[in-house]
Amino acid sequence: MDIYEENGHVLINSDVFDGLNTIPDSSVDLIFVDPPYNIGKNFNTIKDRWETDTDYLNWSYNWIDLCIKKLKRSGSLYIMTSTQFISYYDIYIRQKLTILSRIVWYYDSSGVQAKKYFGSLYEPILFCVKDTKNYCFNNDEIRVEAKTGAKRKLIDYRKPVPTQYNSTKVPGNVWEFPRVRYRMEEYENHPTQKPIALLERIIKASSNEGDIVLDPFSGTFTTSFVCEKLGRKSIGIEIDKIYYQIGLRRVLNIEDYKGKSIKREPKTYEVVDYSQMNF
Ligand SMILES: C[S@@+](CC[C@H](N)C(=O)[O-])C[C@H]1O[C@@H](n2cnc3c(N)ncnc32)[C@H](O)[C@@H]1O
Repeated sequence: MDIYEENGHVLINSDVFDGLNTIPDSSVDLIFVDPPYNIGKNFNTIKDRWETDTDYLNWSYNWIDLCIKKLKRSGSLYIMTSTQFISYYDIYIRQKLTILSRIVWYYDSSGVQAKKYFGSLYEPILFCVKDTKNYCFNNDEIRVEAKTGAKRKLIDYRKPVPTQYNSTKVPGNVWEFPRVRYRMEEYENHPTQKPIALLERIIKASSNEGDIVLDPFSGTFTTSFVCEKLGRKSIGIEIDKIYYQIGLRRVLNIEDYKGKSIKREPKTYEVVDYSQMNF
């Protein structure tokens, strides 16, 4: 296990269970979990396909229990998985936490499209809390433009004193953010990197400055990266060495690790072709 700690961020290179066991119980304000979905993605050295659905679910239930132990009484948990398995997570988790929102992260796709069924264009997220009377929800931090009514400057005559419609609103449970694409500035070499904008909404809503945010399957460490931007502390766990090194660079601007350069590879369109230049 490798642990790197700097500037309020702890980056752990280990299996999820070993990493979680380093964290004191009831110490974390917010957990965002984006685990392998059991749909056969290629995470470098790691399999994303279990022998049976039951194996995947039992493995998941074990780290879900451990995550819940690490969460403060006032804490929140956001958890994702594939559409195929989210119902099982939902039924398991609702015995232990209150699920306040079942969120759909929707995106359009210009890539390969299904021709013989309706292709999947969303990923589900459960938003859960331990204590419905005491949890953080900064609705003012995440307001979005309210299009209907406000945009046309309509007046709401149902109010005791007729007033103009609000120009902002708290987002509902369908969130539209583009997926991370190769040409986007934030892109890293990982098959299921989550967008910065998605994590910004979650972290702004469900934590305050100085709070501790945990991501037990960090991948490219998007969660820790956003925490650094927003003044939160973070703990990130990732089993794969290459992804871990992306995290060290992304979150802590480290460019050399154990005597090796971990600078970002230039993208194909960034490579300068000197042979075409006139010196
Ligand atoms: C869906 S991805 C997370 C992507 C991440 N949210 C991001 O924005 O880059 C899941 C990650 O879990 C890692 N992983 C798989 N099995 C693991 C395990 N047993 N312990 C820790 N990490 C694991 C994979 O290597 C992969 O990077």
